[in-house]
Amino acid sequence: MKLTLRVWRQKNAGAEGAMSTYEVDGISSDMSFLEMLDVLNERLILAGEDPVAFDHDCREGICGACSLVINGDAHGPERTTTCQLHMRSFQDGDTIDIEPWRASAFPVIKDLVVDRSAFDRIIQAGGYVTAPTGSAPEAHATPVPKADADFAFEHAECIGCGACVAACPNGAAMLFTSAKVNHLNVLPQGAPERETRVLDMVAQMDAEGFGGCTLTGECATACPKGIPLVSITGMNKEWLRAARKVGKR
Ligand code: FES
Repeated sequence: MKLTLRVWRQKNAGAEGAMSTYEVDGISSDMSFLEMLDVLNERLILAGEDPVAFDHDCREGICGACSLVINGDAHGPERTTTCQLHMRSFQDGDTIDIEPWRASAFPVIKDLVVDRSAFDRIIQAGGYVTAPTGSAPEAHATPVPKADADFAFEHAECIGCGACVAACPNGAAMLFTSAKVNHLNVLPQGAPERETRVLDMVAQMDAEGFGGCTLTGECATACPKGIPLVSITGMNKEWLRAARKVGKR
């Protein structure tokens, strides 16, 4: 395949960015999108040019590091992570626009890499349990109803990639935060911090400058792990319950 890539280039957080155009050929339809970018970077390095900076780690769809807006869609045209997107989703001769996540709470560090430490600070505000975990306990030591276990597992699938924020016209982080809140709040192990968790995580989310949710639903559409929009409703219920019980943060 021969492709025209229009890539966002930005030297650093303070610099002006712009789209740069590159031609790449010899791209196999079996390559992943990141492997295609590796080909581009090898050619840029051989030509003595600065390679394109982009985030990645596992390249298996589990770490949440990869983060590209491809032709206007977070993670591109398939419902998956950028690292699991393959070039068979494109046609020979295509022009592909590649941009970083766009949100004021995710400032660009360089090229396609953004600073997602705001998510880390939301987790630090309450996305944990204080119960000593020690070694793996016997599976039936703390009974968890099957429906609750399934609910927790569904929300635990969030990999914190930030596609929900990038897709949202408000730059809201409600889907991410709700996944983390709901995952722990439904489990007995998460019960001691049930109220403080939701209040503190939502307060931190607001402090980081993420926008408010208007139930547009783009977040759930872009989520590569299928976290449902009702997750946000669940978090709102948890927040109201907690605010009534212990007062707002
Ligand atoms: S690189 Fe880990 S999810 Fe894509």
